[in-house]
Amino acid sequence: MVKKIFSGVQPTGNLHLGNYLGAIKNFVELNNDKKNECIFCVVDLHAITVKQDPKQLRNNIRETVATFIACGIDPQKSIIFNQSKVSAHSEAAWILSCVARMGWLNRMTQFKEKVGKDKEKASIGLYSYPILMAADILLYDASHVPVGEDQKQHLEICRDIAQRFNNDFNVDDFFKVPEPLIQNEFARIMSLKDGTKKMSKSELSDLSRINLTDSKDIIINKIKKAKTDPLPLPSVITELEKRPEAKNLLGIYSSLTNSTLEKTVEIFGGKNFSEFKEKLSQVLIEKIDPISMEIKKLVNEKEFLDKILLEGYNKAENIASNKIKKMHEIVGF
Ligand code: AMP
Ligand code: TRP
Repeated sequence: MVKKIFSGVQPTGNLHLGNYLGAIKNFVELNNDKKNECIFCVVDLHAITVKQDPKQLRNNIRETVATFIACGIDPQKSIIFNQSKVSAHSEAAWILSCVARMGWLNRMTQFKEKVGKDKEKASIGLYSYPILMAADILLYDASHVPVGEDQKQHLEICRDIAQRFNNDFNVDDFFKVPEPLIQNEFARIMSLKDGTKKMSKSELSDLSRINLTDSKDIIINKIKKAKTDPLPLPSVITELEKRPEAKNLLGIYSSLTNSTLEKTVEIFGGKNFSEFKEKLSQVLIEKIDPISMEIKKLVNEKEFLDKILLEGYNKAENIASNKIKKMHEIVGF
């Protein structure tokens, strides 16, 4: 079966190890399978749900494309494009927002986490963000959506919206109901400063994450300073439940070496953190340093990056404009 893959990444700067291990690594594997048709979108409309500096946003859009390519996505094989350029996304989001229900959005935990007590001051865009995400996916008849675990709920709402539209307008299978592709293990990479918090772009301390543009020295320093606990590493996996920092660091090592947590615990059980951290820095550098150097080279090649976005736009526009035309007919415009 041909898998139609769609995923998006926000151009909000500081792409990090969590983005890589939770999502982009998976994009690359899907891109490498000849049978798949892949679309990777730089979701700038999503980015402006929180305040952005326009100049910085423009740079971040190119840097996100550079990161995709540096990580191994082949623009000859996959479509890479910028969401705001294909106007069908905004249009479809409006139509779908008349299908989605308030009650569904009110359940979204990411919105609640992001706004905290300041709900009244949050933008409407941040609230309705999952509807735009549904529009992204449904316009391309995506069958599979690779994302990190934090996006699971947003995919559920996308499935609800697709089914509701198909039912309300009596158009069986007009929207394909997509399947999430979420890694079973290591789907959520945690902060280096607090093993109970997600590694995130917006965390103030840069020491909390490994950025994909970090140099060798920075990686070594961040791992040295990463939070641990006073005990040696455990020899049994179950003990990790009470030790979030140890679990996270061992998980990162396992994911980078394509191994399992069991095997990693077998190797490092009983050893102290300093020895393990040295090995962890080594595998991080092996993986991240070449990506970091390639990103730094590519961000200066603006014409090359813009050409990729333009070629991607032409292909995406073609698919999305057909689908939105059909949506117009179905709703009676
Ligand atoms: P974003 O940068 O929020 O657009 O996220 C891009 C992709 O990275 C999404 O599929 C997220 O689910 C994934 N992601 C972001 N942070 C993490 C994390 N700490 N662990 C695993 N996946 C993540
Ligand atoms: N909301 C996703 C995130 O923050 C990004 C995104 C937007 C996305 N549209 C999408 C992911 C469509 C998958 C499919 O990570």
